[in-house]
Amino acid sequence: MKKIFALALCAVMMLSVLAGCGGNKNDAPADNTPAQNEPAAPAENTPDAPEAGGTIGVCIYQFTDAFMTTYRNALQEILEGKGYQVTVVDGANDQAKQNEQINTFITQGVDALIINPVMTSAADQIISTVKNAGIPTVLINREPTAEQMAVYDKLVYVGCDAAQSGTFQGELILDTANKGDINGDGKVSYIMVQGDPENIDAQLRTEYSVKALKDAGVEVEELNLTRGDWMRERGQEIVANDLAQFGAQVEVVFCNNDDMAIGALQSIQAAGRKVNEDIYLVGVDALDAALNEVSNGNMTGTVLNDAVGQATAAVEQMELLLGGKTYASGEQSVYVDYVKVTPDNVKDFMG
Ligand code: GAL
Repeated sequence: MKKIFALALCAVMMLSVLAGCGGNKNDAPADNTPAQNEPAAPAENTPDAPEAGGTIGVCIYQFTDAFMTTYRNALQEILEGKGYQVTVVDGANDQAKQNEQINTFITQGVDALIINPVMTSAADQIISTVKNAGIPTVLINREPTAEQMAVYDKLVYVGCDAAQSGTFQGELILDTANKGDINGDGKVSYIMVQGDPENIDAQLRTEYSVKALKDAGVEVEELNLTRGDWMRERGQEIVANDLAQFGAQVEVVFCNNDDMAIGALQSIQAAGRKVNEDIYLVGVDALDAALNEVSNGNMTGTVLNDAVGQATAAVEQMELLLGGKTYASGEQSVYVDYVKVTPDNVKDFMG
């Protein structure tokens, strides 16, 4: 008896599904059937035909971040150039605020999201929100793990391999005349000015810059490691304190990014030190200010973090998602290469 009831229920459900299909808004009303030889009207909402001028929400972790400013400007220009309506919002380094911004974009019915998370640790929550809303999403700049991304197949990460930038920073020091050992005591004594340590870029640049020296057989000594959260003023403060404390012992200043390196340079100069003579200084990003200092000999080198390349790749991936592409787990990271910048090639990067 139970079985018969279940079968009957199934039949009723199937009928209602079919009836639902009949109500599809793409079906032409009976009295308005196009004449036989007229071309069929283009289908609406087909996955491989994204509407020109769709709406895109872009969430940036913090507008005051120098590198992300270059990046977001590039994103906005590329998207607007392609006819999208773009809204870019500032998370003000506050994950709760960014969560609200994501929810607002979802309520507004954006076609796709591009998100630079405030906290990598919030990735699970962000991914489940966009998945529940079914919004195609490109994450940028702060990379979640492959496992975190695997839960949603309309999600992709565009960024760079953070370890590579650290290795390049180490190589910039290895390429100097004395491989960083200015005072010839057989070891390279350095200070590390770290970005926000919650972020994989900060973790891996810190690790791989020093690893490159060790792998080349160079002995290292860490005098200090301090978080500067990517900000210029913090770089300045930290390096002023470290130079006051360790003085001539400091041979290398590793900064996880250029904005902190520019701050560091101010303190190096204020302390009467001279880059490439009695101290080395490296950053990452290739901000215009850093390119100037590399070319003037006030920074040993930097590493191009290709904002335009990443913005271009992010928009490309977004359009693939809008076209219906889905991603297999383990294939959800798209990388753009870093490039080493030295006095020899710096002109190639200057505007
Ligand atoms: C890094 C960049 C930093 C900062 C950070 C923000 O890739 O080098 O300058 O922008 O991203 O997450």
